[in-house]
Amino acid sequence: MAKLVIQGGKPLRGRVRIGGRKNAAVAVIPAALLGDGVSTLENIPSIRDVATYIEIVRAMGARAEWAAPHILRISANGLDSVAVTYDLVKRMRASYYLLGVLLAKFGRAEVPLPGGCDIGQRPIDQHLKGFRALGADVAIEHGVVKVEARRLVGTSIYLDTVSVGATINIMLAATRAEGVTVIENAAKESHIVDVANCLNAMGARVAGAGTDVIKIKGVPRLEGAVHAIIPDEIEAATFMIAAAGSHGEVLVDNVIPKHLEPVSAKLREMGADIEENGESILVRGNGRLQACNVKTLPYPGFPTDAQQPMTVLMAVAQGTSMVTETIWDGRFKHVDELKRMGANIRVEGRTAVIEGVERLSGAPVQATDLRAGAALVVAGLLAEGRTEVSGLAHIDRGYEGIDEKFRGIGADIQRVGVVEPCAAI
Ligand code: EPZ
Repeated sequence: MAKLVIQGGKPLRGRVRIGGRKNAAVAVIPAALLGDGVSTLENIPSIRDVATYIEIVRAMGARAEWAAPHILRISANGLDSVAVTYDLVKRMRASYYLLGVLLAKFGRAEVPLPGGCDIGQRPIDQHLKGFRALGADVAIEHGVVKVEARRLVGTSIYLDTVSVGATINIMLAATRAEGVTVIENAAKESHIVDVANCLNAMGARVAGAGTDVIKIKGVPRLEGAVHAIIPDEIEAATFMIAAAGSHGEVLVDNVIPKHLEPVSAKLREMGADIEENGESILVRGNGRLQACNVKTLPYPGFPTDAQQPMTVLMAVAQGTSMVTETIWDGRFKHVDELKRMGANIRVEGRTAVIEGVERLSGAPVQATDLRAGAALVVAGLLAEGRTEVSGLAHIDRGYEGIDEKFRGIGADIQRVGVVEPCAAI
């Protein structure tokens, strides 16, 4: 079985380059299918979720080719299917974007309810509410979401809950609707702005992305475009947290510091030095960090996707920290594994109370989801002795060469064994 073998306790030093944002990549790839021409997507990370999307695109008859490392060409030419098989979509959450894309393009889509990380209930009622408001009939039959509309007509849609996925999916569906669609109480995450920029480069008319009111004026057709996606703030946060916790000094390069403000603020509060310089952030760990409290919230609050790695830092900080997870009801699955490494954490509902210990001790641990896996890698790097992290398929879904990147800044981390190959990479 493949695993990462880590000999912990080394301060991390040097420079690490951050790749393109996973959650932007898995939205712009399907978005590119809306265009009649070829789209060139740049800064696309070579991760399993992207490989899965490439497989899905090809299975639907369209084309997806790596033109160069991190540059993906997508063409909808040949796209002849409005249905996707469960085998492919069960591997990732973002397959739900095909509903919005196919509905806009062909007026019809059949996509099985998606898979993804097991982090709690993940309803898609707000996506479906949006499609219905645009004029689509929506049904769920045998686990397959079926949407159909003779015409889509712009309207005003108020989201009952702030949802990244619903905001993007409705934006995709509305690009070619008649008239103007207004999404109120929209999510404001940076990759929503990125997807809107990509769509606008393709000829769409999306305004207000990044605020809680997004307006989309439908256009009759979209073209291909060249678009470079934004850096991955969660990959960056993972390296920043590891650098601070290891008492090291790491330049986290190719980032947009503004997107990382919630994470930088908390690291500063804990006592780390954070210096922002243009497109990079220098992180310096200053001895043992101090406890702090974190509550996950939609952007610009502290991102839930960085919560699990952050818990590790609190586990070795001085004092008692509290983490409140408000987005997902099952995102503490890494805690039991951290306890096996000597952490003192008590979970009560959606809150984890963490009594900092001097140090963690290495142990064999199992990643149960993507960010839990990243957290366990960070824990292994900070711990005394040897840690073996299994469940690598989860980590590889969202981190490109996590072992190589950590080795590049001085970590003793080796990949042993082979994760089942991704056909498309
Ligand atoms: C996206 O998931 C990300 N995934 C997640 O990243 C991330 O944790 C999440 O946004 C929040 O930032 C992708 O972009 C592919 P939501 P998404 O819709 O869109 C509730 C990672 O580690 N909700 O914003 O599925 C939902 O239950 C991951 O990279 C409804 O009630 O999340 C949750 O409590 C995992 N009804 C909250 O809203 C809906 O129709 C936020 O979910 C939709 C969501």
